[in-house]
Amino acid sequence: MDKIDPLALIIFGITGNLAQIKLIPALYDMAEKKLLPENMSITGIARKKMTEAEFKNYIHYVLHLANTHHQHEIKEDVFKTLCKKLHYLPGKAEDSKLYQDLNNHLSETTQKSRKAGNRIYYLATYPELYRSIFENLQKNNLNKQNNGWVRLMIEKPIGHDFPSARKLNSLLLKYFTEDQIFRLDHYLGKETLQNILTFRFANDIFEPLINKDCIDHIQITASEDFGIGKRGGYYDKVGALKDVGQNHQLQMLAFAAMNSPTKFSNEAVTEERIKILKKLVPLPEKIVYGQYKGYTKEEDVASNSQTDTFYALKTHINNDRFKDVPVYIRAGKKLKKTVTEISIVFKNHVNRLFKGKDCGDEPNVLIYRIQPNEGIVLKILTKIPGYDTKLQPEYMQYCYRHNPHTHNVPDPYERLLIDTIRGDQTFFNDAKEIEAQWAFIDPLIAVRGKPAIYEPGSWGPKEARELIEKDGRGWLEPSMAFCRI
Ligand code: BG6
Repeated sequence: MDKIDPLALIIFGITGNLAQIKLIPALYDMAEKKLLPENMSITGIARKKMTEAEFKNYIHYVLHLANTHHQHEIKEDVFKTLCKKLHYLPGKAEDSKLYQDLNNHLSETTQKSRKAGNRIYYLATYPELYRSIFENLQKNNLNKQNNGWVRLMIEKPIGHDFPSARKLNSLLLKYFTEDQIFRLDHYLGKETLQNILTFRFANDIFEPLINKDCIDHIQITASEDFGIGKRGGYYDKVGALKDVGQNHQLQMLAFAAMNSPTKFSNEAVTEERIKILKKLVPLPEKIVYGQYKGYTKEEDVASNSQTDTFYALKTHINNDRFKDVPVYIRAGKKLKKTVTEISIVFKNHVNRLFKGKDCGDEPNVLIYRIQPNEGIVLKILTKIPGYDTKLQPEYMQYCYRHNPHTHNVPDPYERLLIDTIRGDQTFFNDAKEIEAQWAFIDPLIAVRGKPAIYEPGSWGPKEARELIEKDGRGWLEPSMAFCRI
């Protein structure tokens, strides 16, 4: 990897959930892999009063929280290297005094390192605070690129519908230019998702098959066998479709269906993703909402909540390539398995030899398994070795075969932090992309009513099964028979 620029990373909301679960572990991993530039400072901001020493203890505590860090060990020497870069600034995001302190602090650290004042502001905080943060940064000239670049990282939710997303985008553009804004969807940073582009566009043999002549339908599943945990306060306001549908699952579809970009650049890749999103047809009559039994008893959830913890929908991409190819998407909590995948189900040729024999009618399926047992797999029929011609389904597979206890495959947050430092926006959303996502989601949210209740550990409500069975198809049972770890 090329040498990366020195910089100051400023994280608003360092004591929050996102910082604990994702950012702090990612920074540790980057320190372990020696990816953090020598002259880098990391400043955490939160309301709590803490001394620098207490702050370092807090980071140590977070890294050892059983459920927040990957399963690999925390090495004390790496932790110490990370600590050398860490600073803490207490203050309220709405309080102008914080920004004077930040200004002084940044001038001091920049002077010490005698380097350009490159800065990333990471907003791991409530969107309600954005306006105040932007205004205060501007008042203190902290968003000016006088002495190095300034970049902003923000995460979903980018709005809660099309108008609010547009409003937030124009607010952002009042203080920053588009090339300074890094809207992060961590699915775009997933190695397995990025590999879809390589698989499709670095090989020539598959692309001729990815179209309406060869494909019967596409399925996308993002199921989790766990519930909402302690996130009731957030989740109950949002629901499954907005939580993972508007963003992660639409990105998955865009990667699987986009045309080859003219070149591998931010503009070209983003443009192709947007083209797919804009051609997606919302079908409000073809969506099922579900809620797992017991959800209303979860912490911070309203006892009469009608929030969706599951949805299944049908759509299609209205372009020449995929005209009339149905796309079925489902996601939910407390389902049977934790698995995320895209399945491209091919048509059977009318004259297929072995039709009607054994499993001779089974379609070929191209599976992008995002997680777990990550890989790219083609389901094919083969002959069972022996004296008779008997068929069996098998998998031709490319597997990561990584051990989850090591961390060779970069975590999306590591990858996206590196990309932001390098100024590469290929795997970030631009304003138009977010707006195209909401334009598809809004009509579906408008028909959200009472969800169908489903049993935890099932595949969701029966209505989801009926949605696809009406078309003479069925949800695929995600197989664990390939890429076993
Ligand atoms: C987050 C959602 O964006 O993505 C969570 O808020 C969901 O509800 C998570 O569990 C899934 O991400 P991953 O990387 O675990 O598949």
